[in-house]
Amino acid sequence: MQVERVSCQWREGYVSVEKMTDCLGDGEGAKTPMELYEELTAQGDQVRALKTAKAEKCLGSQTEIEAAVQLLIKLKVDYKQVAGQDYKAGCPPSENSVAPDNGPAASGGDDEDTVDPWNVSTTNAKGVDYDKLIVRFGSSKIDKELVDRIEKVAGQRPHHFLRRGIFFSHRDMHQVLDAYEKQKSFYLYTGRGPSSESMHVGHLIPFIFTKWLQDVFDIPLVIQLTDDEKYLWKDLTLEDCHHFAVENAKDIIACGFDVNKTFIFSDLDYMGASPEFYRNVVKIQKHVTFNQVKGIFGFTDSDCIGKISFPAIQAAPSFSNSFPQIFGSRKDIQCLIPCAIDQDPYFRMTRDVAPRIGYPKPALLHSTFFPALQGAQTKMSASDANSSIFLTDTPKQIKNKINKHAFSGGKDTVEEHRQDGGNPDVDVSFMYLTFFLEDDEQLEKIRQDYASGALLTGELKKILIETLQPMIAQHQERRKQVTDETVKQFMTPRRLNFHF
Ligand code: TRP
Repeated sequence: MQVERVSCQWREGYVSVEKMTDCLGDGEGAKTPMELYEELTAQGDQVRALKTAKAEKCLGSQTEIEAAVQLLIKLKVDYKQVAGQDYKAGCPPSENSVAPDNGPAASGGDDEDTVDPWNVSTTNAKGVDYDKLIVRFGSSKIDKELVDRIEKVAGQRPHHFLRRGIFFSHRDMHQVLDAYEKQKSFYLYTGRGPSSESMHVGHLIPFIFTKWLQDVFDIPLVIQLTDDEKYLWKDLTLEDCHHFAVENAKDIIACGFDVNKTFIFSDLDYMGASPEFYRNVVKIQKHVTFNQVKGIFGFTDSDCIGKISFPAIQAAPSFSNSFPQIFGSRKDIQCLIPCAIDQDPYFRMTRDVAPRIGYPKPALLHSTFFPALQGAQTKMSASDANSSIFLTDTPKQIKNKINKHAFSGGKDTVEEHRQDGGNPDVDVSFMYLTFFLEDDEQLEKIRQDYASGALLTGELKKILIETLQPMIAQHQERRKQVTDETVKQFMTPRRLNFHF
C-alpha cells in the first residue's frame, strides 16, 4: 500500500489505494480522472471563449453559454466522483489521486457542508446532505439490501436507526456479515470524548445502537474515553478530563451494557497499563507522516505535538491485540466501529495503515448528526444549555426547552397552518421523534398529520415532550444504580465472557 501526496500546493492530500479500487470498479468505459480532467479543462476554455465572444462582439447566444456551463458543472461532478477531489484548473490529478483527503481544508468549499471531528455546519435547514457526504468520503450507503441482510444474519428486526437511515453509511459491513455467517466473530469499538460532566440525548445515539448490535450479535465491546484528547484540545486540566471520563462512563453504563461483555477505558489510565496497546500506538505513529495528518485533520505547524500524534491513539483500539486480556494474542479479529460520520477521518487513516502493519481494516457504521434544538444546520453543543436536552434535565426543563427553543416547521398562525400544513423535514421536534419514537406507524401518522395541517406545532411538541420525559427519567433512574464499584468493574482490564 502506497501513500502519495497530491501535488496541489494547497492540499497535502491523502491518497489510499483502497479508494482507487472502489473507483476503478465503477464500470466499463468509465473515464479516468486524467481524461475527465482534460475534458473539463477544455470545457472551461469553451465557456470562457463563449462569454468573451458575447461580451466583445455580441456573438454567442445566452442559451449556448448556459448549455456549455451546464456541461461544465456536470463534468465537475463526474470528476469529483471519479477523482475524489474538486477540479482545480492547473492542478491535474496525480496518478493515484482518486481519494479525497476530506480534511477540513477540502471540506470548506463554497456551498459544501463542513464535516470534520470538530465542526459540523451547513446552510440547509434540512441538515447536512448525507448522500453527497458518502460520495465525498468514499464510503457506501446503507441501502435496503444491507438492512435486509443484517435482519437475516442477526435474526432480528433491524433497529429503527437502521430502518430510518439514521445509520446511513458504512465501510465493509458486507465483509463483516460474510465472515460472521462463516462463524468468524468480530468485536465492537466505539468511544466518547469526555468534555464535560453532562451528556445530552444526542450523545446516546451511538451507544443505544452499539448496545443493540452487542445484543443481537453477542460479541465483545470496547469503549474508549478519550480524556487525553479533550485535555489536548480544550482548556481543561488532566484531572478534570479524567473525572469527566468516569462520570460519562456512568451514563454509558446506564444504557444497559453487559459488564461481562464490555470493557470501558480511559486513555489516561489504559495507555500506561497496557504495553500491548502502547506498542500498537507506536506502530501506527511510525506509519503515518505529518503530511498525512495535516491533509486529513488540517493540523498546522502551530498545533501542539500532542494533537498531531493523537489520531494514533484513537486508531489503536481498532486492532484486537490492543486488548490481550480479551483477545489473547489474536491480532486478526475484525473490528466494527459504530460512530457519527464526523469521526470517519480517524478511521480512514486507520484503514490506510492497517494492512501496512499487518492488521485487518476496521469496518464502520456511520450515523447522521443529532440536530440542535435551534435547527439542523449544526450538531448540538454541550456548552450551550439551550441547544440540547441533557440527560440531567428535569421534566419541566425538558418541556420548557422544547416549547421555547425547538425550531418549528409550522406556520405562523393556526389558520395558515391548517390551510397549508407544516414542514416536518425542517421541524426539529419531528426530527427528534424519528430518533426516539419507536413505532413506525405512529411516526408516519404524525408526519402526515403535521404536513396536512391536522396536527399543530404545539401538539407535535407535546408528543415529543411526552416521549422524552419518561425516557430521560428512566435513564436517570438507571444511572443512580451505577455505583463507583460498578464503574471500576467495567473499567478494569479483564477477560470477558468470550473465548478467543
Ligand atoms: N473522538 C471521539 C469524540 O470526541 C471519541 C472517540 C474515540 C470515538 N474513539 C472513538 C468515537 C470511536 C466513536 C468511535 O467524541
